[in-house]
Amino acid sequence: MLKTCIKGTGSYFPPRVVPNKFFESIVYTSDEWITTRTGIRERRFIDNGLAFSDLALPAARAALDMAGLPAEAVELIVVGTSTGDMISPASACILQKKLGAPRAVAFDVSAGCSGWVYSLQVAQKFVQDGSHQCALVLGGEVLSNRIDYQDRTTCVVFGDGAGAVVVGPCNGSDDGEILSTHLHADGELWDLLYLPGGSANPPSREMVEARMLYVKMQGNEVFKQAVRSLSAVALEALEHNGLTPDEIDWFIPHQANIRIMEEVARRLEIPIEKVIITVDRYGNTSAGTIPTSLDEAVRDGRIKRGDLVLVNTFGAGFTWGASLFRF
Ligand code: ACO
Repeated sequence: MLKTCIKGTGSYFPPRVVPNKFFESIVYTSDEWITTRTGIRERRFIDNGLAFSDLALPAARAALDMAGLPAEAVELIVVGTSTGDMISPASACILQKKLGAPRAVAFDVSAGCSGWVYSLQVAQKFVQDGSHQCALVLGGEVLSNRIDYQDRTTCVVFGDGAGAVVVGPCNGSDDGEILSTHLHADGELWDLLYLPGGSANPPSREMVEARMLYVKMQGNEVFKQAVRSLSAVALEALEHNGLTPDEIDWFIPHQANIRIMEEVARRLEIPIEKVIITVDRYGNTSAGTIPTSLDEAVRDGRIKRGDLVLVNTFGAGFTWGASLFRF
């Protein structure tokens, strides 16, 4: 098995900033409620006419740039998303065309907010066995057109954005290493958080009128499950590698709600100064939260080569996971 590492990171958010105040005019809410209950101050929404792959493309290009690799070198594209351009084909294939990566095997992974961590593990297996040298792993969503602007518990929390990393074999001592990734799922609780609109709810006037095009979430139940699972899987990753929380340089939790992040950090005894926080500016971009936060912290110089980084995720399914890597 080859050792694998992250060779480059990239991210992209659409330029349109949507502050909390925007929601005050369409649902019964307030900037104060959203800020104190979620930590979110603003998020980004795409403009009409754009789609997921329009966010994924600049993120992918930035990650390849950092890795010093041309698009033609990409042999595998794995995209974690639940809101791709279309139900079929996979957004990975649309991205492959836009990017100009004709050699790449390309497919999507549907694991809700855990889509990027699931995709990382899949890509890692391809690289570890030596069959693929250069993998692009993306995560992101366009949720602004799949949230119900009549449901104040969901419409205020989500945002649009995409992040990417390039994964390849470790070549030298300067490279980091992906130490391990741990994944879980529990389908028993799928109906606490879902995005209808597939074969169980085919297109019809009734389906649209019943607002079955939009994210459904029992937020407070999801909250409790998220805290438990995020804490447990982070500990699992640490124990697997014989590490303790104080040895971590940076912790990137799934950015869904600042109260969840603070509680998980408290349970792990990781000081808040080591927690990368982007939820205040981008909201919950689901599968996009971890790769975009990683990219921000790499580019602003907080995360440096060699740093030990712990990430964890939780989302629809339920699915959850953690990954531990030396950047
Ligand atoms: N503005 C004002 N009041 C609101 C709003 C709002 N936007 N949303 C809910 N409320 C009200 C509710 O109606 C309720 O009022 P009531 O007591 O009169 O019935 C009250 O606030 C409390 O409702 P809760 O749902 O218990 O509010 P909570 O504090 O749990 O916050 C939230 C809701 C933000 C959705 C929170 O539950 C949450 O973040 N959940 C987790 C989401 C998550 O972790 N997702 C991650 C995995 S899934 C993914 O990322 C896609």
